[in-house]
Amino acid sequence: MILDFSKLSDLEKYKMMSNTISPRPIAWIVTEDDGVVNVAPFSYFTPLSSNPPTLVVSIGHKDENTPKDTLANILKHKKATICMAEKEFTNDMSNTATDLPKEVSEAKKFNIKTSLINKNYPPIIDGVKVAFFCDFYDTFPIEKSKTIPVFLTIKEMYANDERVEENLHVKTKNIGRIGRNYIYDYKFEEQK
Ligand SMILES: Cc1cc2nc3c(=O)[nH]c(=O)nc-3n(C[C@H](O)[C@H](O)[C@H](O)COP(=O)(O)O)c2cc1C
Repeated sequence: MILDFSKLSDLEKYKMMSNTISPRPIAWIVTEDDGVVNVAPFSYFTPLSSNPPTLVVSIGHKDENTPKDTLANILKHKKATICMAEKEFTNDMSNTATDLPKEVSEAKKFNIKTSLINKNYPPIIDGVKVAFFCDFYDTFPIEKSKTIPVFLTIKEMYANDERVEENLHVKTKNIGRIGRNYIYDYKFEEQK
């Protein structure tokens, strides 16, 4: 079967890409504005370069003229803390995808505890094993799209000590996304 993307609906295109370019990692992003801690998950997310350490996350709009809160906050404050979520956070992570008014904190609304462990960046979600403290780098417009690729530079990283093994190997069991579903418990096979 050959599918012509020019003939597919937006939903069909999303389905074709999100089920097959998989599993996608999930950036559980914490940003702040006016004292409101905003938390939301994004899975159009990938590392681009280790040096300089650069990530991209594509963030859409609530409607034609209103960027999602995460996008607005990153563009305004140039900072984001990206938490990596494991299985125990599935419900909290999904809840934070709820579209709330900008002045309402998902952390407060869903009773998700956060801690300010790096005073230069938004807080991390308590209990996550890995988080990246990032600075805004740039955006790149996609013609006719209200989804904006946001490039971020990792400045610092939190890794739970118990997960850091010899030679800085950090062990994680992050949730992945396939289509709209989640995948857990990857089977590791050592590379020969
Ligand atoms: C697992 C998951 C992944 C998501 N990935 C994206 C994404 O890559 N880009 C996007 O714009 N929205 C994505 N969403 C939807 C946002 O999380 C949702 O629109 C959220 O309300 C945005 O919150 P904000 O306005 O506080 O930034 C995803 C939702 C879930 C549950």
